[in-house]
Amino acid sequence: MSDKSRARLMEIVSLAPVIPVITIEDAAHAVPLARALVAGGLPAIEITLRTNAAVESARAIMAEVPEAIVGIGTVLSAWDLERASALGAAFAVSPGVTSDILTAAAITDLPFAPGIQTASDLITCVVRGFDVVKFFPAVPAGGLAALSALAGPFPNVRYCPTGGIGAANAQEWLAHPKVVAVGGSWIAPASDISAGNWQQIEQRAHAAAALRSR
Ligand code: 3PG
Repeated sequence: MSDKSRARLMEIVSLAPVIPVITIEDAAHAVPLARALVAGGLPAIEITLRTNAAVESARAIMAEVPEAIVGIGTVLSAWDLERASALGAAFAVSPGVTSDILTAAAITDLPFAPGIQTASDLITCVVRGFDVVKFFPAVPAGGLAALSALAGPFPNVRYCPTGGIGAANAQEWLAHPKVVAVGGSWIAPASDISAGNWQQIEQRAHAAAALRSR
């Protein structure tokens, strides 16, 4: 990844302490959902490629909610990454790391955060210049103790832990000096999205945006 894309990725993940991880089943929900998140103070949004509505949702948000910084998540292949880039996404995130994905990320030059869970994953990323990573699944993979241990040999890496993080534990993750932001689905759970509970989502976003970030 170029220095410019790396710097842009740091800028994006530093915009707010929390990056909502969003799974949208119905593209009609995308714009009001993004408006609620932006109004709540969380502009960087990860739209996961887990549903048929994901791409259309990302497009709609980019067209109608210019304040939103739309990222594509659940990138599992080079093709997913190319799709994210062609869509005009601001960034992309993967739950893991493969050589193919890193090669595609280097070619597209899209700001990209690979997912890591082990020292080997971290070596794969850092030798190719990817040093802003998603630590996934953060809680099941050993929590803060695991992150602290992994951080030792990789002092220049910055982490966005995701997986098992919610309102009750986000603050303790954010207190770690190597954590730039946390990700999670708790801000906009599927039940609230399908029910159109935008106000509740906005309130949760406000609370998350007020968490301490570094
Ligand atoms: C992700 O893709 O990052 C996770 O599914 C989010 O994990 P959470 O649902 O535990 O927040």
